[in-house]
Amino acid sequence: MIIGVPKEVKDHESRVGITPAGVKALSEAGHKVLVETHAGELSAFTDDAFQSAGAEIVGSAHNVWGMADMVVKVKEPVEKEYGFFREGLVLFTYLHLAPLPVLTDKLLAKKVTGIAYETIRDKQGTLPLLTPMSEVAGRMSVQVGAAYLEKEKGGRGVLLGGVPGVPPAKVCIIGGGIVGTNAAKVALGMGARVKIIDLNLNRLRELDDIFNGRLITVASNSYNVARATAESDLVIGGVLIPGAAAPKIVTRAMVAGMMKGSVIVDVAIDQGGCIETAKPTTHSDPSYEVNGVVHYCVTNMPAAVPNTSTLALTNATFPYVMRLARDGARAAILADDGIREGVNTYDGKLTYHAVAQSQGKPWRAVREVLA
Ligand SMILES: NC(=O)c1ccc[n+]([C@@H]2O[C@H](COP(=O)([O-])OP(=O)(O)OC[C@H]3O[C@@H](n4cnc5c(N)ncnc54)[C@H](O)[C@@H]3O)[C@@H](O)[C@H]2O)c1
Repeated sequence: MIIGVPKEVKDHESRVGITPAGVKALSEAGHKVLVETHAGELSAFTDDAFQSAGAEIVGSAHNVWGMADMVVKVKEPVEKEYGFFREGLVLFTYLHLAPLPVLTDKLLAKKVTGIAYETIRDKQGTLPLLTPMSEVAGRMSVQVGAAYLEKEKGGRGVLLGGVPGVPPAKVCIIGGGIVGTNAAKVALGMGARVKIIDLNLNRLRELDDIFNGRLITVASNSYNVARATAESDLVIGGVLIPGAAAPKIVTRAMVAGMMKGSVIVDVAIDQGGCIETAKPTTHSDPSYEVNGVVHYCVTNMPAAVPNTSTLALTNATFPYVMRLARDGARAAILADDGIREGVNTYDGKLTYHAVAQSQGKPWRAVREVLA
């Protein structure tokens, strides 16, 4: 198969769909990989590194899309890429089609096989291609929070781990899922005192076991959240209700009750945020203050560490790339329940129920379309 890897064009996107390691494995398996020049540059992968691994460096996006059987990307295509769609093309990337009816229509009109990272499921029913970015953002949230606690950045001037004779900072993590667990690891590693709040008592039991009592687990209710936020130097929001806007767990009144110079990092901001005073920010202007509390609410935190994020993402996506290349999309979709869940568009039909529902369009199960 010919696999094409274009340079990402979406604003601020610095990741790339395949690494040199992936190119090497695909080349050794007999596939041809076309990488657009400079595609990996912002993730610290040079054209030379791709070439040494066996890729052919191609000068333009037009040629990468035009010659490839399957295009592997990171973000959903933007308008200037729509013209590259053609019948039979397999597109493997984050698609997030629900709010994008125009992109959906273009993929359908050109009969592109659109396989979305975000809807692929593994055997446990989880979303394995979303997990790595939550791991990155969770770990980063504490690093970022520690920096904003410094005086120069508007913080209380507190060192997360304290020093002998001076107590460490208090960190409150709301949501004990992937983001929360990874935040807890880093906060504990830096010597902070950590509380983690979740609605799911079984998850709190697991966390208590995993961390062997080194953190305090707290059941989520407004009384406990108000107390924990009021005493914390750093509050991290990592709540998720799948498919829904994040509930506002920390109210404006609770933020008013927090210490001046304390810091909020609302990782859940990409789903609207779980803190009432949070509003989306960007890497170029990441923070603002409300009632003297510093807020950091960047919607695409992993973009700040594109080398790590690309490696983490491609570790998860690559086995699927290999499978699609080896078997061809049709056979892989038929054989693998997880890949089938990822198919959003096939042969001009919308094949993902939730996307169809949110756009008020008809849909058909991909199995029926393939039958
Ligand atoms: N900003 C970014 O760059 C970025 C990057 C990656 C992920 N995220 C977002 O971070 C959020 C968390 O992702 P995740 O992978 O950790 O999700 P997850 O499903 O693994 O964890 C969410 C946790 O929230 C808990 N929860 C639900 N309702 C709650 C409540 N009322 N009180 C306390 N806890 C509650 C759940 O029980 C679960 O344990 C998502 O919105 C995700 O999209 C943002």
